[in-house]
Amino acid sequence: MSELSELAKAISVCMLCKLHETRNRAVPGEGPENAKLMLVGEGPGFNEDQQARPFVGASGKFLDQLLASVDIKRSDVYITNVVKCRPPENRDPLPNETQTCCTTYLDKQIEFIKPKVIVTLGRYSMGRFLPNVTISNVHGKVFKYKGITIYPLYHPAAALHQGNLRKTIEDDFKRVADLLKQTDEAPKTPTIIKKPDEPPSPKQM
Ligand code: URA
Repeated sequence: MSELSELAKAISVCMLCKLHETRNRAVPGEGPENAKLMLVGEGPGFNEDQQARPFVGASGKFLDQLLASVDIKRSDVYITNVVKCRPPENRDPLPNETQTCCTTYLDKQIEFIKPKVIVTLGRYSMGRFLPNVTISNVHGKVFKYKGITIYPLYHPAAALHQGNLRKTIEDDFKRVADLLKQTDEAPKTPTIIKKPDEPPSPKQM
């Protein structure tokens, strides 16, 4: 069993925070183990908690449309959340829940998958990578975190509740395919690794 599958198994029986008391099923995440693109949402809602799959409800449908709009297959993307269990009544996750879940699971998922680009969906996800910023200031801008491109976006559910945000998310999403392409581009000149006491070769000058 892969390390990622072992982690998913551990998540499905996790009892590290109080969310396990009210969840129906934990939602570890899904997608290829070598995905270049990772989407990180906030936490499972009603449908996700029933099916143990991320983004399968109304915001999932919208997310599917956003992915289709940039010709990215959902099956090529790893999709997960900051917290793996549904907060009761869909309340916001608490700091201790987020901290425990991310240090135990999300950080390891990132370590195993090694995505090139992480799109954060909503402020809780953004806050894991970009503390002390506000989503209204940074959505649609590109950041680096431990060598990974971080692209913060509004949460798709926000677009469903606030009509004026729909176009903002759609516009921001258009850049996702380009960000992925940029990470694919090979360096223009090969990197020449030189032994410490070797004189510089003319090619390097
Ligand atoms: N909202 C999220 O943040 N994650 C899901 O999986 C579903 C809805």
